[in-house]
Amino acid sequence: MKTATPFKISNEKNKLNLSQEIQRLKKEKNAVILAHYYQEEAIQEVADYLGDSLYLAQQAAKVDQDIIVFAGVHFMAETAKIINPTKKVLLPDLKAGCSLADSCPPEDFAVFKAKHPNAIIVSYINCSAEVKTLSDLVCTSSNAKKIIESIPEDQEIIFAPDKNLGAYLNKETGRNMILWEGSCIVHEAFSFEKIVSLTKSYPKAKFIAHPESESPVLEIAHYIGSTSGLLAFVQKDNAQEYIVATEAGILHEMQKRCPEKTFIPAPVEDDTCACSECAFMKLNTLEKLHRCLVEETPEVQMDSQLMDAARLPIERMFKLS
Ligand code: 13P
Ligand code: SF4
Repeated sequence: MKTATPFKISNEKNKLNLSQEIQRLKKEKNAVILAHYYQEEAIQEVADYLGDSLYLAQQAAKVDQDIIVFAGVHFMAETAKIINPTKKVLLPDLKAGCSLADSCPPEDFAVFKAKHPNAIIVSYINCSAEVKTLSDLVCTSSNAKKIIESIPEDQEIIFAPDKNLGAYLNKETGRNMILWEGSCIVHEAFSFEKIVSLTKSYPKAKFIAHPESESPVLEIAHYIGSTSGLLAFVQKDNAQEYIVATEAGILHEMQKRCPEKTFIPAPVEDDTCACSECAFMKLNTLEKLHRCLVEETPEVQMDSQLMDAARLPIERMFKLS
């Protein structure tokens, strides 16, 4: 018996008026909306720029509107503010955090760093601005391999905060980076056993995964990549069915780009929850996005010294990307 339902685009007509009003407010306020693929469908549809962490950071650096509404999580909005500090950066819900960023408190990370005085620090962009200030380089899942490979082979490296992405990169690059023990609750929730069983129900389906997933899951994947990597793969690949191990919001864009293909969210350990949805990402709603444009709040505000220090490793990443 098949255990998962293929994804279909939903058509929520009741959100139409709100979306139209958001489009009007964007013009009136000279605002731009940047959204990550993990946002709810209606938010993805009103975005001016929809993409992965790297693409959104690159767009945030370029936009010339007065207001950036960041439909994503806090570290993403914070990064936008750091690289374009004169803009007003709004986040529809300031509580939209990230388990990965939270798993690396800056004070603890500073102690860890001090134990390895010769190491270069490479931080995944999913971390706080304070952790970025302790880093030499920032990376995202789409450029991490390139960033690591830009560092001399004999150089000691600390990679933080994602131990799963770090272990994957160690395997890919042959390095032995020292890993901080952080993780993403969404990607750790996927069940290896249930995925194996689902692949038996869909024998023609390819299994694709985000590198924040655990090693056993990654070992059985036909393709591993960032959200934009996963999207590019399903577009160019010739299979018709895919089991997808990343946050379920991406299925909307996959289905739009490949309407004839079938996308099945990878199953999670706990049947009682929608664990493949990021509860932080989903704190943003179309209603909150509308309200934040009307009220121009909540705004991401940061100390200018913190921004200056955190900008350096991000700019190094841009140069290497
Ligand atoms: P990317 O979109 O850069 O692959 O990142 C995934 C993610 O977990 C963002 O929080
Ligand atoms: Fe953080 Fe994971 Fe949510 Fe991405 S999916 S924002 S890494 S908790």
